Amino acid sequence: MNNLLMEVENEIAVVTINRPKSLNALNSETLTELEQCLGEIEKRKDVKVVILTGAGEKAFVAGADISEMKDATAAQGRDMAFLACRTFGKLENMPQVTIAAVNGFALGGGCEISMACDIRIASENAKFGQPEVNLGILPGFGGTQRLPRLVGKGRAKELIFTADMIDAQEAYRIGLANKVVPLADLLKFCKEMAAKIISKGSYAVSLAKMAINTGLDIDLASGLKLEADLFGLSFATADKKEGMSAFLEKRPANLTDF
Ligand code: HXC
Repeated sequence: MNNLLMEVENEIAVVTINRPKSLNALNSETLTELEQCLGEIEKRKDVKVVILTGAGEKAFVAGADISEMKDATAAQGRDMAFLACRTFGKLENMPQVTIAAVNGFALGGGCEISMACDIRIASENAKFGQPEVNLGILPGFGGTQRLPRLVGKGRAKELIFTADMIDAQEAYRIGLANKVVPLADLLKFCKEMAAKIISKGSYAVSLAKMAINTGLDIDLASGLKLEADLFGLSFATADKKEGMSAFLEKRPANLTDF
């Protein structure tokens, strides 16, 4: 991999987009590597949480690579958007929990990739925005779809139409960032959150992720039916037996992944 770093420790995979000279901008090669990398991680039973971050202290991801897009044709632009759609879809729907450790600029495709993650933790210096209209394009990596789902239609339209950048506190205030922490503590904080999630029943967590994601795209009655089915499925696990027995026996539960 030319543009990514990946390390696995304590069931946590840290994936770092590593193009600091261009503020970790996403070119096709990086997106292709990320699609492959996430495809491998989603099959691994020894990884329960994925933390996605950017190399350096300035940027998480400053967007899609403008130098690659400048001379691209309409068909190439569409292909790039589909590549990102497949790649970000993996982050969104893989059984593992995904956390974006947003360590600086998260602009355009950078804001969009963070929104495909389950949780966004921002460093105090982080800046979010969808500046595409400055370039004569619109968000093409999911921004027009995921931003309104996260922050509401009115705020999403304001951010996309004005191309304004917002700081981490404002992102927190509108629900785009889950937490804001000092840059020096960012990875540590994300790893602690990951460890807390891993200590729970991992299969139950991944079923909850599936219920939330699918439920938001369907009507309430169908979502509640899906939840009931997945809830029933969770009763088939050793974790359910152990979790409930431990509670009644007043001892800590030893939950695993099924
Ligand atoms: C390519 C980029 C880049 C990008 C930064 N760089 N962002 N290269 N694509 N998205 C490069 C710069 O050209 C520069 O390279 C180096 O990174 C450092 O950036 P500077 O601009 O010198 O840094 P600074 O002055 O601190 O400004 C930081 C910044 C600015 C505010 C983040 O770089 C910026 O506005 N970047 C573009 C943000 C943006 O518009 N993102 C949306 C892209 S469109 P050199 O070689 O000069 O050192 C998008 C669409 C997605 O994401 C959908 C597509 C289908």
